[in-house]
Amino acid sequence: MNAASPLGPDVTAIVHKPVIVETKGLSKRYRTGFWLNQKITSLKDCSLTVYRGETFGLLGPNGAGKTTLLKLLLGIIRPNRGSAELLGKPAGDTSVKARIGYLPENPYFYDYLTGWEFLTYTAGLFGLSKAEQKTRIPALLDLVGLSRSAAIKKQLRQYSKGMLQRVGMAQALVNDPEIVFLDEPMSGLDPTGRYQVREIIVSLQEQGKTIFFNSHVLSDVEAICDRIAILDQGELVCIGGLQELLGVPERYFVKGREGSLDILQKWVQPLTFQGGYWQGYLKGDPYDFLSSVRLMNAKIVTIQLARPSLEEFFMQQIQQRRQEKR
Ligand SMILES: Nc1ncnc2c1ncn2[C@@H]1O[C@H](COP(=O)(O)OP(=O)(O)O)[C@@H](O)[C@H]1O
Ligand SMILES: [Mg+2]
Repeated sequence: MNAASPLGPDVTAIVHKPVIVETKGLSKRYRTGFWLNQKITSLKDCSLTVYRGETFGLLGPNGAGKTTLLKLLLGIIRPNRGSAELLGKPAGDTSVKARIGYLPENPYFYDYLTGWEFLTYTAGLFGLSKAEQKTRIPALLDLVGLSRSAAIKKQLRQYSKGMLQRVGMAQALVNDPEIVFLDEPMSGLDPTGRYQVREIIVSLQEQGKTIFFNSHVLSDVEAICDRIAILDQGELVCIGGLQELLGVPERYFVKGREGSLDILQKWVQPLTFQGGYWQGYLKGDPYDFLSSVRLMNAKIVTIQLARPSLEEFFMQQIQQRRQEKR
């Protein structure tokens, strides 16, 4: 599938912005099993483009091929077919490495180093001078919200999951990259941790960075991404701006207390009972509905314009694709 979603063309692709990532027919097969005689297709014929300054979210169920795509882009693994370009160079080109940042899905850190020592080490890998390190490391700690005393005193093995994720973010940014790849940056974090990672991403957006991140946490993606792509079983299901894919709000979402079942059965479809309320989308004219509400003195607590959530859209896309495949 190319840069068009089943719902129409990918509008962003029409507006010309500098291309930062481009893949064409990218495919990856792994050999597995004891005799390496089984093959798994982790990515199939994937063509997509990411533009400068975008926050691009790659979504998909576990095993969809998200990490595989990221590793192909970074040149960590090689494709069986197709091509990938990053900042105008073939994926894996060493001249590009200094301009990108990467937070792996399950980063392995050197347990016995302190956060500060670890960041000094990664800064050294990028050739930052001692003087640059002195200003850069504290600035990064501030950005990711890690206290200096913890960074200086504590070894990484004493860090919580949230603190490790922050150090991981800091190392991904140590070289002030143009594009940052984040593989499931919110996974394993509590709600506060997730919120804070989101805040870090927003501050990177404000600095004009391009962000490419993998996630299966749809609410996070919906809150911060400009464009998304959905992968399922190695295939690109759709790609586009959130607005294009989800549409503009044109349906009314209605929520009522238990006593409102009679009226809502007539007016709302599909009607579900969640968290103590009947709810669903209105069919018919909202003003007529409101007149009936008044007439029947029904207990309606919410009526608002809404578009499907990314979660609904995601489930619908995945289910539709799997039905078509049968
Ligand atoms: N090194 C590997 N060897 C064999 N199979 C792999 C390897 N890495 C990934 N896979 C398989 O490729 C598929 C996609 O994996 P992955 O890209 O990690 O998915 P995601 O990140 O979306 O959860 C999975 O079925 C996974 O088991
Ligand atoms: Mg993954």
